[in-house]
Amino acid sequence: MFCTQCEAEGFRRITYYYDRPDVMATFSRVRLEAGKESYPVLLSNGNKLEHGDCGGGRHFAVWEDPYPKPSYLFALVAGDLGKVSGTFQTASGRQVELNVYSEKENVDQCDHALASLIKSMQWDEERFGLEYDLSLYNIVAVNDFNMGAMENKGLNIFNTALTLAKPSTATDDNYERIESVIGHEYFHNWSGNRVTCRDWFQLTLKEGLTVFRDQEFSSDVGSRPVVRIENVKSVRGRQFIEDAGPMSHPIRPESYIAMDNFYTSTVYEKGAEVIRMYMTLVGKDGFRRGLTEYFKRHDGAAVTCDDFRAAMADANGVDLAQFERWYTQAGTPVLTAAGAYDAAAGVYSLTLSQACPPTPGQAAKEPFHIPVVVGLLDAESGAEVVASRTLELREASQTFTFDGLPAPVVPSILRGFSAPVKLAPVKLVHEPALTDDTLAFLAAHDTDAFNRWEAGQALGAKLVLDTASAFAAAGGAKPDAAVELPAPFLAAFRSTLSDASLDPSLRAYALVLPPLSELSQAMAVIDPTNLPAARRAVRRSLALACEQELVALYDSLAPPPGAPFSVDGAEIGRRRLRNCALGYLCSLPDGSPGGRDAVARAKAQFDASAGCMTDRLAAFSCLVGKPDDSPAAAERAAAVAAFHEAAGGDALVVNKWFMTQATADRAGLLDDVKALVQHPDFSWTNPNRLRSVVSAFASSMEHFHAPGGAAYAWLGDAIEKVDKINPQVASRLAGAFALHKRYDAERGELMRAQLSRIKALPGLSKDTFEVCARSLA
Ligand code: ARG
Ligand code: ZN
Repeated sequence: MFCTQCEAEGFRRITYYYDRPDVMATFSRVRLEAGKESYPVLLSNGNKLEHGDCGGGRHFAVWEDPYPKPSYLFALVAGDLGKVSGTFQTASGRQVELNVYSEKENVDQCDHALASLIKSMQWDEERFGLEYDLSLYNIVAVNDFNMGAMENKGLNIFNTALTLAKPSTATDDNYERIESVIGHEYFHNWSGNRVTCRDWFQLTLKEGLTVFRDQEFSSDVGSRPVVRIENVKSVRGRQFIEDAGPMSHPIRPESYIAMDNFYTSTVYEKGAEVIRMYMTLVGKDGFRRGLTEYFKRHDGAAVTCDDFRAAMADANGVDLAQFERWYTQAGTPVLTAAGAYDAAAGVYSLTLSQACPPTPGQAAKEPFHIPVVVGLLDAESGAEVVASRTLELREASQTFTFDGLPAPVVPSILRGFSAPVKLAPVKLVHEPALTDDTLAFLAAHDTDAFNRWEAGQALGAKLVLDTASAFAAAGGAKPDAAVELPAPFLAAFRSTLSDASLDPSLRAYALVLPPLSELSQAMAVIDPTNLPAARRAVRRSLALACEQELVALYDSLAPPPGAPFSVDGAEIGRRRLRNCALGYLCSLPDGSPGGRDAVARAKAQFDASAGCMTDRLAAFSCLVGKPDDSPAAAERAAAVAAFHEAAGGDALVVNKWFMTQATADRAGLLDDVKALVQHPDFSWTNPNRLRSVVSAFASSMEHFHAPGGAAYAWLGDAIEKVDKINPQVASRLAGAFALHKRYDAERGELMRAQLSRIKALPGLSKDTFEVCARSLA
């Protein structure tokens, strides 16, 4: 098949044009002609005006799009495709024909995408009063695609990984992600297409806003706290890291060499957090008023982030001048809080301070306008005595007071992650910092579900980081090392394990320790050996301490016999929690009786779950993590063979097979990866396949950063090769070296050597050049 991808600057490769987003034109006749047999389906934007035969085995179609659009939203598709179809009637009565196209053998996997589209259309009408404006909406799934998906007017083009799903091939996470990305591209029809960007520096105008809209969609149709936790994990695990390295940029960047390098977590995810702060400041209704005003003022135009801010301010009569700094200053602000309770006066005062570290080109920062949502809990009972309120921090430091408080309180700060900042541990007067006991108290009592999860994570993070320092001081960890678990932490873990009244997804997320990407941010120098060892040791110790509870939990969550497979929230939660328990059990020492039982459980689950990819993949990863000298090595080899065989060549399942192996927690992973790229199913030209091995491996802290730099050299060679094939993917791979200053001197040198070598390659793409040059600056 043929398909286009024009955003950001691709249309100029099709024809001469003023290829900038502020040039909006009506594409009123687009004629496609092709061989009839090979390309029976011919699509473009808008509505089909004519089609017919041209003789000689060829045919044609003519499309018109009545809405003026910038060239980056232009699209063409020609191929031999199957489809599933549906209809949607808009609130004002327009009948819309909906089609999801894919290669014919995959049409049985398009129903979830179609259902998600209908849900999205319904939701945007209900939540924001926004309707679709054409009589046709086409989505095409493409297996060779650099990015996730693209919002071309009336003709979205999607990566198959974000379209196709059936229970035996897609995980629950895949199902959830497909729903949100289908929503994202649909929501662009207003936030992006009807109102677009004046220039590419404004990218977050449409992307931050549309990510925010897809997050709200997922929250409204699913569980708000679960979605919030997932989104915040992503901001912290990706955006905070970007912000701490040489690629750090404001959500509205100031310069670029290759625009494609700025489709970043900062522009998208931090951009969405900035939009969310408007809602926190002006309220949910105020936000809707502001958004309505924005579309009313600018429909059909190409505008700026300032126009959006002005619409929000004017519709709500508020001053958002200082808020502009979120668009101009890069970096992650650090918030510090100090609380004091005056018993005689019954007053609690909370002093909030902010500071933002320097970023490339920005040494000093002005204070941000930060909404800090705070609630107060009774220090004895944990009951909420002051409900959530939004404090507006505008100065470097400000004190807020709460009165009428007869007894001491514990503050719950930055509820719901009300701003994209790092919160330093709260200092309480008479106490140096939040103690484990206070964190455990918040983990048990906080009435804000997000902050309850957050407190538990903070406890876990402290323990892993302390363990890593201890390992480093002792010259390294012993294999199968266990650690002593502080009582408040263990008690909090146990109570989550056994509290059947909590939402299973929230329990699963509360039980999982923070990821290495987050933990490493708290280290002055990242220690890629002892940090992963420490996290593993804490996991193992928890499994040892709670083995009986974990086994009981795992067994109690077995799929109800005979129940049909379903991806509703309750079933997703059940599987998530059960697989979390399995993961813990599989961290027990391999030779121990518990370890052997766990492998037997994983194997039994693997064998029984051919119809449920979520369970299959969870069991598969547990087995794939087993080293060659483990008693479970045979189970590992058998699972690797069986998984590949059962995939039957399904590209997305084979990607999972590759990715699970490329990210396995096994010594000698580089050798495994070198073997994987020799496998006949590996491809250097298919972006999904390439990412499932090369990018996946580069994200593994311990193995990618193994001493000596062999993996760095291997990745350097891979980048050199891929840059000639696909610069957009190559430049992303080069991002794996961005944190070279955060590692020790030796690793830093080795990473810089790769960056310098690549940067000097003759004929290097401007995409990869820009990442290398910025990283070395
Ligand atoms: N606008 C698309 C989306 O967010 C992404 C396009 C990415 N383009 C690129 N050149 N990286 O849905
Ligand atoms: Zn987008």
